Amino acid sequence: MSIEIDVLNGDASWPRVEPLMNAVWPQHVVEKLSWGHVKWAHADLRVLIEAPEDSNGESPNPGLACHVGIFFRTATWNGRKVDIGGIGGVATREDFRGRGLAGLALGAAVQTMRDHEAIKFALLFCEPHNFAFYEARGWHKFTGEIYAEQPEGRIRFEAMAPFVFDFTRAPRDGVIDLCGLPW
Ligand SMILES: CC(C)(COP(=O)(O)OP(=O)(O)OC[C@H]1O[C@@H](n2cnc3c(N)ncnc32)[C@H](O)[C@@H]1OP(=O)(O)O)[C@@H](O)C(=O)NCCC(=O)NCCS
Repeated sequence: MSIEIDVLNGDASWPRVEPLMNAVWPQHVVEKLSWGHVKWAHADLRVLIEAPEDSNGESPNPGLACHVGIFFRTATWNGRKVDIGGIGGVATREDFRGRGLAGLALGAAVQTMRDHEAIKFALLFCEPHNFAFYEARGWHKFTGEIYAEQPEGRIRFEAMAPFVFDFTRAPRDGVIDLCGLPW
């Protein structure tokens, strides 16, 4: 079985991703969640994994199996400008979960961000039931404050917990201002 991992332009690849996002996060479910009201940034790049073939070389349920969005942003950390990467929209189609696809896609996303030398660390936001998933993959809880833009203006962003992946900086606390919409 071979698995193909693509890293594509975020806007151009969105039509391929939208059905997976709607399946994993249907509107009627999202609107009841703590982050259901948040206006999100659009991914700059997307890691896509198509449904892998089965052992007979067939694809009975073709389509996108896994997605990770990648974001690039000049933010501030304790008032100083810093180029950071971001991860969002991590999702695997229900019938392909537990096969390592999200782990693979996340690894490809981290490598893509690492290839941009200016990026000092990466940031993602997640709910408590996913903390262990990210901690097992080298992400650390950020205990400081996050600020972000929303249509009503600059807000303290507390809808989900921030986690950091270290490149050349290892922030654990202080103030990060995303200087734009969250992801
Ligand atoms: C979380 C999610 C992306 C994982 O996708 P996946 O392709 O099944 O993940 P992988 O197969 O790479 O990883 C599964 C492994 O992580 C573990 N794992 C998966 N979800 C976990 C979680 N929430 N907490 C702890 N461990 C988790 C599994 O036990 C398995 O461990 P193993 O590798 O030791 O066997 C998938 O469950 C999903 O789409 N969930 C709904 C959307 C969501 O919550 N996305 C995250 C937004 S931040």
